[in-house]
Amino acid sequence: PTLEKDILPLYFGWFLAKRDEDNLRKTAHEFLEQLGNLKAFKKRLQAFGVEDKHKLDLLKYFAKTPNILHCTTKFCDFGKVPGSEEYAQLEAVRKNYSRGFTLHISALFVTPRTAGAQIELTQEQLHLWPSDAEKEVMPKDILPRGSRAHITLGCASDIQDVQTGIDLLEFVKLQQAGREGENMGELLGGKISYYDNGMWMLALPRKKEVKTIFSGYYG
Ligand code: A2P
Repeated sequence: PTLEKDILPLYFGWFLAKRDEDNLRKTAHEFLEQLGNLKAFKKRLQAFGVEDKHKLDLLKYFAKTPNILHCTTKFCDFGKVPGSEEYAQLEAVRKNYSRGFTLHISALFVTPRTAGAQIELTQEQLHLWPSDAEKEVMPKDILPRGSRAHITLGCASDIQDVQTGIDLLEFVKLQQAGREGENMGELLGGKISYYDNGMWMLALPRKKEVKTIFSGYYG
């Protein structure tokens, strides 16, 4: 018998392999650069706290980027978050710990707070997705399971990373309500849409695959 307990991580998630991480950072860089140069964007800068028609350097605006690009599944805060222990004990979590997964990025998005990549989880990957992840943010809405799945690419100053998933759910909610956003032309070969309040989403022409490892981050 042992009195020792497993230590819960700061969070569980899928961590990008180095090569795919570098590649995604490059894509994010191009996206932010090209969006910042888009005429339609320059005409809609007020939500970013800048006067319209001025230049906004989005790379500087989103200077705060994560150390390791990843898609968080369960934030545990070393066990302080309710449900952490239960999540860690899930058979899917135990079985898949340190296993490789390919994630599919379907879109890139920007709001005045965050820049992120939307992830489309497979049925298998959904087994690792906490059942309350969407409800936690939007308790009154019925949103598809996994619709909060994302990779944070950057945050504005004073904004926490957790905001990226909240912003993504705002897009999903609008889309669920039948709002498609205003088509603003093409960027990186995909369709760029505007959703008011400084919310921009780029639907990628082909889903971008990234190799990851499911694991825990201990800080
Ligand atoms: P995200 O997954 O959107 O990038 P921090 O550095 O703030 O401690 O967060 C560590 C990671 O856990 C980040 O990736 C962050 O956001 C995510 N995260 C932080 N707080 C929460 C939360 N309350 N719910 C879900 N994810 C969180």
